Amino acid sequence: VPGVLAPFEGGPPLVIAHRGGMGLWPENSLFAFERSTALGVDMLEMDLHLSRDGELVVIHDATLERTTNGFGEVADHDLADLQALDAGYRWTADGGESYPYRNQGIGIPTFAEVLAALPQIPKVVEIKVPEPDLEARLCEQIMESGQRDRIIVGSFHDRSLQRFRSLCPTVATSAGASSVRLLVLLDRIGLGSLLSPSYELLQIPARHSGVQVATPSLLDTAAERGLRTQLWTINEQPEMQRLLDMGADGLITDYPDRALHLLRLR
Ligand code: G3P
Ligand code: CA
Repeated sequence: VPGVLAPFEGGPPLVIAHRGGMGLWPENSLFAFERSTALGVDMLEMDLHLSRDGELVVIHDATLERTTNGFGEVADHDLADLQALDAGYRWTADGGESYPYRNQGIGIPTFAEVLAALPQIPKVVEIKVPEPDLEARLCEQIMESGQRDRIIVGSFHDRSLQRFRSLCPTVATSAGASSVRLLVLLDRIGLGSLLSPSYELLQIPARHSGVQVATPSLLDTAAERGLRTQLWTINEQPEMQRLLDMGADGLITDYPDRALHLLRLR
């Protein structure tokens, strides 16, 4: 996709606010996205589900209990019901001593609201449910928004990503789970050069099940193939520093303040 990653090219490594910076503010809320943008992050990461009546909503889990005062499946609720919930209800920074964002009017945003409120900042958008309706609505909203060159779409669901790429070929995508596994395997057996990616970006966990996924050789292989690497979820400064030294292009973090502070010292 020539040129589509132009806004992300060059410059220092990117600081990407994971779920809007969930260590600092209620995750996937407009409040968090606005605060992280004001803090100076380079990109916002967010997760998408579909409401029962077919609207794209920004929430991580398929269920409501962990982050809101609602109950049940997101997909079993119409948008109006979801919008009546408190998405700041469960957020606590002190293990449940206090809940500073309860009843502060923080709701579950629609994807359209986030696009409209923060049109300039680049976004990494994750498809959480592999549904053709979701992929179609996402493509439609990205194209209508005029933000095509500032959005990267990712998913662990390979088939969902494949369908999205066919629908929306000019929108940048990150590797799906099977592509990441293949790349890691090829790299481990020294055949990384065989990779010919159909995606622009590699978003991978720095570690998985105790195994280091982001190795210097994998990051080098990715760089040789013209793939940007963004690593999640990096919350401690020593690990941030180590991965930056290794050549990571972006850090996806719950604490963007820590990453920005580190980069400003460099
Ligand atoms: O971008 C990848 C990362 O967000 C995946 O983790 O569970 O927070 O969506 P999760
Ligand atoms: Ca995510």
